[in-house]
Amino acid sequence: MGPVQAPPPTSIPHLPEGDSALAFLREGYNFVSRRCERLGSDAFSTTILGRPVVCARGREAARMFSHPGRFTRRGATPPTVTRLLQGRHSVHQLDGTAHHQRKALYMQLLDAGATARLVELFSRQWRARTAAWPRRPEVELQTEAERALAAAAFRWAGVPAPATEAGIAGRTRELAAMIEGAGSLGPRLVRGLRLRRRHEKRIRALVQSLRDAPGPQLDSPAALVARLRDEYGTLLPVQQAANALTNLLLPTVAVGRWITFAALALHRHPELRGRFAEPGYLQRFVHEVRRFYPFVPALAGRVREPFDWAGRRFEAGDLVLLDLYGTNRHPALWEEPGRFNPDRFIGWNGDPHGFIPQGAGDYLEDHRCPGENPTIALMMAALGHLLELDYSVPRQDLRIPMNRFPTGPRSRLILGRARPARPAHAAVAATA
Ligand code: HEM
Repeated sequence: MGPVQAPPPTSIPHLPEGDSALAFLREGYNFVSRRCERLGSDAFSTTILGRPVVCARGREAARMFSHPGRFTRRGATPPTVTRLLQGRHSVHQLDGTAHHQRKALYMQLLDAGATARLVELFSRQWRARTAAWPRRPEVELQTEAERALAAAAFRWAGVPAPATEAGIAGRTRELAAMIEGAGSLGPRLVRGLRLRRRHEKRIRALVQSLRDAPGPQLDSPAALVARLRDEYGTLLPVQQAANALTNLLLPTVAVGRWITFAALALHRHPELRGRFAEPGYLQRFVHEVRRFYPFVPALAGRVREPFDWAGRRFEAGDLVLLDLYGTNRHPALWEEPGRFNPDRFIGWNGDPHGFIPQGAGDYLEDHRCPGENPTIALMMAALGHLLELDYSVPRQDLRIPMNRFPTGPRSRLILGRARPARPAHAAVAATA
């Protein structure tokens, strides 16, 4: 995959600028990389809102950051981001044995069989939606994908959801607003918090009802999570169990943003359409979408156990920011990182520290996203279904603001005149 091995930084220069908060907001996804290039170092120290922080990118930084037990996410991420995306006392906030135990449950809930069931439900939802597209002059792809994902996730998890389009639209809006609000300080944040409260109320009631009267679906993810106990064997407070359940629903809807990017890549590179019949191409394309397009910009962690790295002592409580986007586009790891090229994943060795769109390292030992394989599978399914359609991409604003978290094409990708493709065009690879 990558052209050369980047050595670990040998020292960590201090950024000769004042507080970096404004620059970070202004430059967004590019903030860390630009400074690394300028300083000739993959790590630098600065302050953000008066708080000292070491920003780092690259494989060695990811290895340092994902060393088991070294960092906690507690007190590292801004509280509103935690509140919107994970909820307090969720798996992301746990450390040590408590984390290990909870994470094992997520890995089990999201194993290969569960992923296959989720994808099957998603495909059914997606096909039902796309069957109606020929009757509509235009559709907004991100909205369509999010609704199909939400409907599938509810069903898969055993969470009752309305059968009507308006009902599903409302539930999807709540989950999507939490994702939208997480990187904002203004109205998007307020809306996200308001809709999260509404969502939580319903999920708390579901958890309570599953505890009071376990129904026939005793082994649904919702029922299992409702009965979750902590590492001392105590039943979780209802709110915490509700957060744990939301952690299966919300990130599934987030996959819609990457499905949108995948369709955008298809639009930008029509010459690649013919390649999907090749074995493995669909998966390579999906990997490249997750590498190339911006989503989670960075991860913040606070040191738990002191350690030395790059000639510096890190003490308990120190704050470190690992640049995910910058690592996925690091020029020493990726040849021509700014070029969309799925073939770079031919013979890829699965490096858990150089390609980190959903976190680095080991799934069980650290916080790396347990939904990574389901994400890939859902994206592959969506892309496969898109390739079965003919559609136009009318004029629209496809710019991707780099200082908006999370970002995406401004228009959310509008497709026009969608209808089933003539067989010759439907070159869909059935295999990964
Ligand atoms: C667009 C797709 C997704 C992206 C970009 C994404 C990204 C991430 C990232 C960056 C982390 C934090 C890693 C860390 O702190 O080291 C994470 C954690 C997590 N993700 Fe995902 N994720 C996605 C999809 C999913 C899906 C589909 C699920 C489940 C259905 C999921 C469930 C979780 C959970 C439970 C955690 C916390 C894990 C822990 O703390 O150990 N994610 N995800």
